[in-house]
Amino acid sequence: MIKINENYLKLPGSYLFSAIAKKVKAYQEAHPEADIIRLGIGDVTLPLAPSVIKALHEAVDEMGQAETFHGYAPDLGYSFLREEIAKKDYQDRGCSIQADEIFISDGAKCDCGNIQELFDETARIAVCDPVYPVYVDSNVMAGRTGEYDEAAGKWSNVIYLPCTAENHFVPQLPDEKPDLIYLCNPNNPTGTTLTREQLKVWVDYANANDAVILYDAAYEAYITEEDVPHSIYELEGARTCAIEFRSFSKNAGFTGVRLAFTVIPKDLKSGEASLHDMWARRHGTKYNGAPYIQQKAAMAVYTEEGRKEVKQQVSYYMRNARTIYDGLKEAGYQVAGGVNSPYVWLHTGDMTSWEFFDHLLEDANVVGTPGSGFGPSGEHYFRLTGFGTYENTVEAVRRIQNLKK
Ligand SMILES: Cc1ncc(COP(=O)(O)O)c(C=O)c1O
Repeated sequence: MIKINENYLKLPGSYLFSAIAKKVKAYQEAHPEADIIRLGIGDVTLPLAPSVIKALHEAVDEMGQAETFHGYAPDLGYSFLREEIAKKDYQDRGCSIQADEIFISDGAKCDCGNIQELFDETARIAVCDPVYPVYVDSNVMAGRTGEYDEAAGKWSNVIYLPCTAENHFVPQLPDEKPDLIYLCNPNNPTGTTLTREQLKVWVDYANANDAVILYDAAYEAYITEEDVPHSIYELEGARTCAIEFRSFSKNAGFTGVRLAFTVIPKDLKSGEASLHDMWARRHGTKYNGAPYIQQKAAMAVYTEEGRKEVKQQVSYYMRNARTIYDGLKEAGYQVAGGVNSPYVWLHTGDMTSWEFFDHLLEDANVVGTPGSGFGPSGEHYFRLTGFGTYENTVEAVRRIQNLKK
């Protein structure tokens, strides 16, 4: 027998979005006349900003000339981009992060999934519940999560931090001590946030308990409120306990272009071992650098014109999120998110998340995402996103409101 990584076999089947796609397909086949509106997606829909397109074209042309051709990129990223990020995303916000602490990659998903390689196989993880599934599944593959209890929807060796309306979606410090704490702020799927003060509690806790915070800020561009931090490094003490993940996917529509970065401060150590150096070593061994073309395109996001354009795109999605939030609230739903995030998280009342999914699909022809797919505390919740068109969003909200009439 071939010796395989049996941890993969522990992963529960049926990935959430394929289960949704199957149901929608079956419904559409049975009702070809139905005009289905999809507000379940976490993918952007607007085309790339003109500045980004221009930069992409220029970079492509450079690749066609011997004098300006670029082969393998530096493993950790071109210094032009690392310096721009360090200055504009961090130093201009008062965060002491240097260019050589930034690692360019082709996606926050890969980085969030791969980062666990730096830690011992006995390291215990803590995750918010509900959660972006990558954090848990990548640790399942590494054999760190114990056994899956299907009825409870939980892994025996994972510390779950429930985030529900009861605690205002703010995770409480756990009784058991984790080694790795995954925090996503603004949160996917709930769309809610931790304020600077609430995040500081976790930074202090991590420093006091030798834990590392794996901080996913993929939705940073959607923050509108003053007291929500754009980076964990705005908080004192974060340099010794936190790794931050950022992406160009949601702030600039790069989901199909692929570019992201991870920040590991040089102060983050386990004894003498530097996590920064370990990640640099990993990148050097397993990654051959994000393409020059993409990195040039990312530079356009930081120009005055580019910034203006991507901000408009984010505002477009946020207007949709606001439309959903206000419309559902008006219809009597309990809703969260939508203020610093493109995600709106609503309570489904007596219906389970999947019952509500069927109800919305069949009676309003609107598709969303059942909250229970993100973890047991997501049961009786449902995610709608602002990533559709404005017209479809308005129409979907109108249909959902009509269901209550
Ligand atoms: C919380 C979170 N992190 C990371 C990602 C993935 O980002 P990327 O497109 O850079 O891989 C997503 C994508 O939906 C996300 O929701």
